[in-house]
Amino acid sequence: MRPGSDERPAGAPAPGAIRYLGHAGFTVAHAGVSLLIDPWFHPAFLGAWFPFPDNRELLPGVLAGGHDLLYLSHLHEDHFDERVLDRLDRGITVVLPRYRSKSMVKRMSALGFREQVVLGHRESFTPAPGLTLTMLLDTSHKEDSGLLVDLAGFRFLDLNDCNTPLGELPGDIDLLSAQYSGAMWYPNAYAYPEETQRKKTAEVRSDLFDTLVRKVRLTGARAYLPSAGPPVFLDPELARYNDREETIFPLWDAFADDFAAACPGVRVIEAAPGDDLSAPTGPVAHWRTDVYLSAYRDRREAEWRAYGDRAFEPVTANELDAYLARLQSWNKRFLGDWRKDVRLTSDGGSWSVRLGRIAGDIVFEEEPVDPAYTIEVPQRALRAIVDGAVGWEEALLSMRLGLARDPDVFDLTLMSLLRYGEHPAQTMQMVRERESAAHGESIERCGVRMQRFCPHAGEDLSHADIEAGVLECPRHHWKWRLDTGECVSGGTVPLRVEPTGPDAPSR
Ligand code: FES
Repeated sequence: MRPGSDERPAGAPAPGAIRYLGHAGFTVAHAGVSLLIDPWFHPAFLGAWFPFPDNRELLPGVLAGGHDLLYLSHLHEDHFDERVLDRLDRGITVVLPRYRSKSMVKRMSALGFREQVVLGHRESFTPAPGLTLTMLLDTSHKEDSGLLVDLAGFRFLDLNDCNTPLGELPGDIDLLSAQYSGAMWYPNAYAYPEETQRKKTAEVRSDLFDTLVRKVRLTGARAYLPSAGPPVFLDPELARYNDREETIFPLWDAFADDFAAACPGVRVIEAAPGDDLSAPTGPVAHWRTDVYLSAYRDRREAEWRAYGDRAFEPVTANELDAYLARLQSWNKRFLGDWRKDVRLTSDGGSWSVRLGRIAGDIVFEEEPVDPAYTIEVPQRALRAIVDGAVGWEEALLSMRLGLARDPDVFDLTLMSLLRYGEHPAQTMQMVRERESAAHGESIERCGVRMQRFCPHAGEDLSHADIEAGVLECPRHHWKWRLDTGECVSGGTVPLRVEPTGPDAPSR
């Protein structure tokens, strides 16, 4: 029996052991060690995202906290708040995931954090007897991580928004902290007719819920803490994304009943920023009101206005040409013979850009080509991208960009070039994933031998649902026909399949 657990409700840590900071932030105090996790307090992604609810009053305590350890899960600004990091004592030991790009190590070294413990997937660190930290990576090209914190047998799994392959998740978890709302621009940043938008949003919300339930079941979690989102958008220009019904940024209430039905016996711990998780006070109804939002917007006015107030020089065609040429030349092997016509529109101007095939040879068409993708990017955001102040990933997450595509099919190569192209270690990993799809590890299910890891982002397909000859990946819910391997929903990348027995679906 876990020490003391018989006297506490399911999944409750010891008093004072785990404190919630809001979003994906925590402090953990155990065995004389204080651990700070993903402290986020300032606007992220081109000044678009703010913590919800407001947690700023906790910042002085966090800065004065005298923490021994700091764990940062990944580089997204709602986890890697440089304004907070800049004010922390450089003597703190940082626990970092070992990513191929070494991005976290480099950024923290540049900030002056010399004491680093860098852990690969499933590697552990024991800073004191009775406290063990185990790193869990998203083992695909994506650079995300979670942390298993073992406090003398009480197992707290902080998955934030990391998608460690389901087959790699640890079990026997007391308390699971994981995202339930979206942190993605699809579909809400896409130009869809209203009804289509509503349908796609509902699908994504349902997929997010399905993924969460799988995580809870596979980890055997006794308690679940809804966390790592949603944010709030304080810039009035982005106010539509605060609609909790019509976006992929719902509040927990939207899922609570279905969760209770799907995971009976799992205690849900709804916490407020500052709560000791042994006795959480929970959410406050007032947070959901327009009055609260309006007062929060007023308090942070200088911060959300900063994006729009900053002076900038518009990006010229030559600068954009040079930027895209560089991006493509870094990713030649990844791009292969792919090509795509893309239209970039920016504050009334428009560029038709032919990407791919001959890397480095960008064609700006005089006459608009018929683009497969249109990306509407404000000049202010484009300037930040071209100057390297943010990447496309951060700019897209800001919801300040708009997208359209025809046909309505996700282009993995284009989006990966934009999202990961600045870190070729990630796109090279995608090349390796593609190659290993042809020759890598296989599993057999329903009379079909198939690649074990999803060709999109590496999920373990041992846990995929199969219905009527169609396999559905449990992570982003792409679907493939098992008789042909054709991708029929989500993207265009095929699945390697080979019939092995009489149960195999026939063509
Ligand atoms: S990992 Fe994205 S659909 Fe499988």
